[in-house]
Amino acid sequence: MKIDSFESNKLLAALNKGCYKTAAAETRRALSLMEEWFARRFDAAGATEKDGWIYSALSSGGKRLRPMLVRLAAGFGRPDEARIVRLMCAIELIHSASLVHDDIVDRSPLRRSRATINAEKGDGYAAMCGFAMIGEALALLEDADADAVIDVVAKIPMEMCFGELRQLEIEFDLKAQDEEDYCKRIERKTAVLIKGSCLTGALAAGAGQRVVSALSDYGHALGILFQLRDDLLDCEQIPTDGKPISQDMERGIYSLPILYALTQLREGTREGEKLRAALRKRVKSPAEIRALAEIAADTGGIDYARAAIARQQGRAGDALSRLPANEYTEALTILLDTLAAAPNARGESEKTAPVRFANEKRRYGYDGS
Ligand code: FPP
Ligand code: MG
Repeated sequence: MKIDSFESNKLLAALNKGCYKTAAAETRRALSLMEEWFARRFDAAGATEKDGWIYSALSSGGKRLRPMLVRLAAGFGRPDEARIVRLMCAIELIHSASLVHDDIVDRSPLRRSRATINAEKGDGYAAMCGFAMIGEALALLEDADADAVIDVVAKIPMEMCFGELRQLEIEFDLKAQDEEDYCKRIERKTAVLIKGSCLTGALAAGAGQRVVSALSDYGHALGILFQLRDDLLDCEQIPTDGKPISQDMERGIYSLPILYALTQLREGTREGEKLRAALRKRVKSPAEIRALAEIAADTGGIDYARAAIARQQGRAGDALSRLPANEYTEALTILLDTLAAAPNARGESEKTAPVRFANEKRRYGYDGS
């Protein structure tokens, strides 16, 4: 089964470089088993219409980042392959279900360049598909035989809903939206699942407590970094994942670059009032959205978000340095550096200070060059 996403290939290609051969091969094999399970369950003879829609949501070229993390984290213990693959399927089902529901909330017509279920079949139908996917995920965990894994997974959809509900509550409310609120929201809507992928992979494979704790911290920082980067690209109007750009800005949801601009152009000043009036507008033209993105750049908001990404990269790197020096740790470092290298406004990948070299130096006493 082919994994047809550019970013997934990029992540796997990054893993294949260097000395991560076993980790990369295991990850590739486990991902392929996951794809086979999806095809057997949702695309085989006898599949119903709803199975077809679920399969379409699952197979539209996602990055497979979360199941990759499950498998790599499991490398720190003694994984039972079949059980880990079921966990990977469950985590990816929850992730895809959250996107199906997110597209309803966002009224989005497109995801990964495909028409969304809500656009084709209506909101009610799409909502039911999302719930069915969560049910499928929980059913897969029936025999996970680790209460700790079930405890973590069971709380993930709840946390994600809380993050999304908060987002709905504060649309266009410029008083409620600040950096602190934004960080809490992205922690819930994105980081909880990415952290949960690392945590459950390690727990399911019976990894030791110190390793579990380091992987959990790594996943948390990587999750925050991931959403910061996604929001930064959106604010810079760089298209990603075949979805419409700047939807959040239109809906009155503001990310870090704009929130920073608000702190620089204060209420009561001419520029500050102009910015607030532009943000409060319920309908924004593409030119008005571009103008807001320019204000974010001119006031230093883009640089501020990039610095926040670098800080999370550092935190994730610190967590990695608490792990044993093995190729799973190296592979997780590569994923971190690949995801932290957000393209700039021209779509070029920025050179960030790779954590890999810093950690290699610490471990092996050379600078990796
Ligand atoms: C994409 O973010 C969406 C999320 C990270 C999570 C959305 C969560 C829910 C809808 C709650 C329901 C959860 C479950 C498990 C059913 P984004 O909107 O910032 O990114 P986008 O540009 O990809 O839409
Ligand atoms: Mg969205």
